[in-house]
Amino acid sequence: MSGPKWLNDAVFYEIYPQSFQDTNGDGIGDFEGIIERLDYIKNLGCNALWINPCYDSPFKDAGYDVRDYKSVAPRYGTNEDLYRLFDEAHRRSMHVFLDLVPGHTSEEHAWFRESGRAGHNEYSGRYIWSDLWIAGMQGHPYIAGECERNGTYMLNFFKCQPALNYGFGTVTAPWQDGLDDPEPHRTREAMKDVMRFWLSHGCDGFRVDMADSLVKDDDDSKSGTAEVWRDLRRVIDEEYPEAALVSEWSNPKQAVLGAHFNMDFYLDHPGKAYNTLVRDNETEGPDRSFFRKDAGGDIERFLPQFLSDYEAVKGHGYIAFITCNHDTPRMSRTLTERERKLAYAFLFTLPGVPFLYYGDEIGIPYFEDLPTKEGGYTRTGTRTPMQWNHGRNLGFSTADAAKLYLPVDPSEDAATVEDAEADPDSLYHTVQDILQLRHAQDDLKADGEFAVVYAKKESCPFLYRRGSLLLGVNPSGSAVTVPWEELSQVPDQLAGHKSAEPLFCIGGGGAAAEGITLEAQSFMIVR
Ligand code: NOJ
Repeated sequence: MSGPKWLNDAVFYEIYPQSFQDTNGDGIGDFEGIIERLDYIKNLGCNALWINPCYDSPFKDAGYDVRDYKSVAPRYGTNEDLYRLFDEAHRRSMHVFLDLVPGHTSEEHAWFRESGRAGHNEYSGRYIWSDLWIAGMQGHPYIAGECERNGTYMLNFFKCQPALNYGFGTVTAPWQDGLDDPEPHRTREAMKDVMRFWLSHGCDGFRVDMADSLVKDDDDSKSGTAEVWRDLRRVIDEEYPEAALVSEWSNPKQAVLGAHFNMDFYLDHPGKAYNTLVRDNETEGPDRSFFRKDAGGDIERFLPQFLSDYEAVKGHGYIAFITCNHDTPRMSRTLTERERKLAYAFLFTLPGVPFLYYGDEIGIPYFEDLPTKEGGYTRTGTRTPMQWNHGRNLGFSTADAAKLYLPVDPSEDAATVEDAEADPDSLYHTVQDILQLRHAQDDLKADGEFAVVYAKKESCPFLYRRGSLLLGVNPSGSAVTVPWEELSQVPDQLAGHKSAEPLFCIGGGGAAAEGITLEAQSFMIVR
């Protein structure tokens, strides 16, 4: 199982639809806006989209509280508009992922309303209910006193998101179903039906929300949840083999090897090596992220976990690297533009499939103190409107400022696409150049081989190989030269010549008789 071939050259662009492009002046983004910007996205170098949930919803969690899986929220357009978006993307050889939210629905979903009724009906077993109005649920959040049914129900996330019933790994109470009981199987079939619905209308796959959350009281390796996924993805394997799934799991071994996802995100979850690269939110004291110029550049905080995951999933699926997502503070909060250039160049040249969060290509700031919007809380600062030009509301919408979904960047010199395109040194051009190179060089694509060439604890640079290409990154403030004798796995062509002009470079560097040199805060690729 390694998935459709197109993933090898895929670069995703994540769109938070509320904030991307409004075309009807109501202050909120829409499908038409995304269609109008497809050429922009393609030209940037992204050939696939992930659109956050765009279904009918009361929006108490920005749409992750789905009220109707098969109808889009009218604020974005109609189902037909979304089908047209699929078509327009396909015409440009782009793929589109929707967000599948299989672990919970909104408390306003018709299934849940039926499930909460006193009498038994088709949906009584669709969610997880205890058998007494006052009975708790050990180790799980639950709600009592809301419905006429004589029971309490389990939550999967917020209060508005009751957990769907996929059964328990270990059954300890009479009201709990095992994995293979009939009700959990009905939930699976209902979710397959949702997948089939969108795939049959042209969707190319799904980003799967909280993919690891389905089976409750599962074992440590999440084998029950993995079993459910191997079943759910039969829809893909048997009926839509060109489609794919990426999981919000952040444990590639479990997600890819166990649950057969095509890709799994590296996220800023606690204990994850990804954090040590760009958002060091784990340790007390100063931010020691690898890409910060003054942080000491310790790639060894990242490598062991990454190499172990990469070696394990190679040939079966991919690690998906993100610049950011709708839950995560933008890198611009803590990294300078130069630091981000290096970080993006690195993330976009690792094996696996990269995801770029809208606006990261122009350096949209993270807004610290925005009041929460639609359950965003501190995530709200990462969800502000795209900044296109210096026109009204930075080109996002023609609505009055007071009607906007979230305010646009108020600063005089707000970053815009228009300015970034005109400036050859912009972050935007770095992204475009590196993605163009990635598409042109098979070695840099998802399947291209990866090996460590030079890595030292608490010291720069880090050198790595992708097929026949040698890549180096030096986030520190001083130039460094590594003698040839200290390198391993040097591509043959290079070892012979020992001198080469970079194919791509930020900041300067090259290969010469004495070794590989990287200037301060630099990144380079040599053949
Ligand atoms: C993860 C999503 O990324 C997040 O935005 C959402 O709030 C939760 N899952 C609940 O669905």
